[in-house]
Amino acid sequence: MFAVYASEGNLENPLASLVVGERPEPIVPEGWVRVKVSHASLNRHDIFTLMGVTAQAVPIAFPMILGNDGAGTLDDGSEVIIYPVMGSPDWRGDETLDPDWNIFSERVPGTFADYVAVPRRNAISRPAGISALDASVLGTAWLTAYRMLFTKSGLKPGQTMLVQGGSGGVATALIQLGCAAGIEVWATSRTREGRELAERLGAHRTFANGEKLPRRVEAVILLASVGPGCVNGWDRLLAAPGTGQLCALVAWRLTPWIARARLARTARRRGRPLRPDEHANWQVWGHPGRGHRPLWRTFLTEQRALLRELGELEHAIASVQAPVLLLSDPRDTLVPLDTARRLARALPDARLQLIDGAGHHLPRRAPDAVADAIVAFLAAAEAQAARDETRSLTFGGRRRVKSAVVLADPLALAGSADAYRGCG
Ligand SMILES: NC(=O)c1ccc[n+]([C@@H]2O[C@H](COP(=O)([O-])OP(=O)(O)OC[C@H]3O[C@@H](n4cnc5c(N)ncnc54)[C@H](OP(=O)(O)O)[C@@H]3O)[C@@H](O)[C@H]2O)c1
Repeated sequence: MFAVYASEGNLENPLASLVVGERPEPIVPEGWVRVKVSHASLNRHDIFTLMGVTAQAVPIAFPMILGNDGAGTLDDGSEVIIYPVMGSPDWRGDETLDPDWNIFSERVPGTFADYVAVPRRNAISRPAGISALDASVLGTAWLTAYRMLFTKSGLKPGQTMLVQGGSGGVATALIQLGCAAGIEVWATSRTREGRELAERLGAHRTFANGEKLPRRVEAVILLASVGPGCVNGWDRLLAAPGTGQLCALVAWRLTPWIARARLARTARRRGRPLRPDEHANWQVWGHPGRGHRPLWRTFLTEQRALLRELGELEHAIASVQAPVLLLSDPRDTLVPLDTARRLARALPDARLQLIDGAGHHLPRRAPDAVADAIVAFLAAAEAQAARDETRSLTFGGRRRVKSAVVLADPLALAGSADAYRGCG
């Protein structure tokens, strides 16, 4: 059958492995159905497939037919939209947490072909009011945007949403969904064409990248944050050309292995598995996840920026007008408490809250205390903003943006996402 597929993963030149040709018709396992594809849509994910990049534990089995989304007909002629998310049949609850979660063109062939095999539940009857063309783009990007906006963000009509990279797949879906839901949509784009597209799709205001937005962030949260007096010899070594990369190379090759061996020894000695807050440093090093390479690159870039820009940042501290919550632990061995104290003194409106005994990996070792502190701080900031709003209504009604920025060491946050679900 006709198919558009990736012959192999090509990181440097993904389009070089794009083939428009013939592939065998799909095998249809028990419980699956065959869809004759009439429409399919492109996604940035197709570039990842051509690059051989996947979030799955197993590498992509090339040749792989591209395409996450589509619409078409079943063998009995009924019209269907293809729902892109698959997983283990016995998984219950949030699908995105299923370890077997996957979409088309990762483990099974995608939709850019005459036929695609899909689990029966993924062939959804197409409502009469939606054309096959529209249905074919309503998959991965729109579902992602829908979940971000309506399941996760908590935004309500009348509030403001800032969409960055306004001409992108998820961004264009967000703009349209946001406008339909009565949210004030602001979008940024690097190009004039991108901003015009965002406006055509309904964005109320658009901005170039880096342009100053008319309203400000209302709160900042710093977790075990860097600041005055935090740089030591290790930071200088990691930021130095050559030695930094060498340390990172050793770290991402050897450290996970050493850390896991050490953790296993400790667990054996204790006769039980370790809790996530025990030996958190070693756990972070030992289980860096598939993203550890990018994480290390980010870490090195941060180190260099830290040494280059710390002085400049120290000068800028006084200009931060938003209320700031500083969370720190006196026993943090990586960033000294004195840094948090100096930051608190230099920031015009800061509150320093100590979480004793958790060390540097605050979110990991004391997730509840950190989450409680953030929730209480945001509630207080919101109450204050509401009082200000009541006052300012008398002078013509200034509206407020509900927003906070959380800044933390990315390694300190590793593995702590669960703690923040529902934190807002
Ligand atoms: N697509 C999906 O179904 C999906 C699903 C889940 C998660 N995601 C994630 O969502 C994010 C966006 O994905 P997407 O598919 O929407 O990607 P996309 O279509 O490539 O859009 C990304 C947008 O970001 C902007 N951008 C690109 N490079 C940039 C740069 N160097 N500096 C500043 N802005 C830049 C561009 O917008 P402007 O040119 O307008 O500035 C671009 O259109 C990715 O992180 C992706 O992994 C995507």
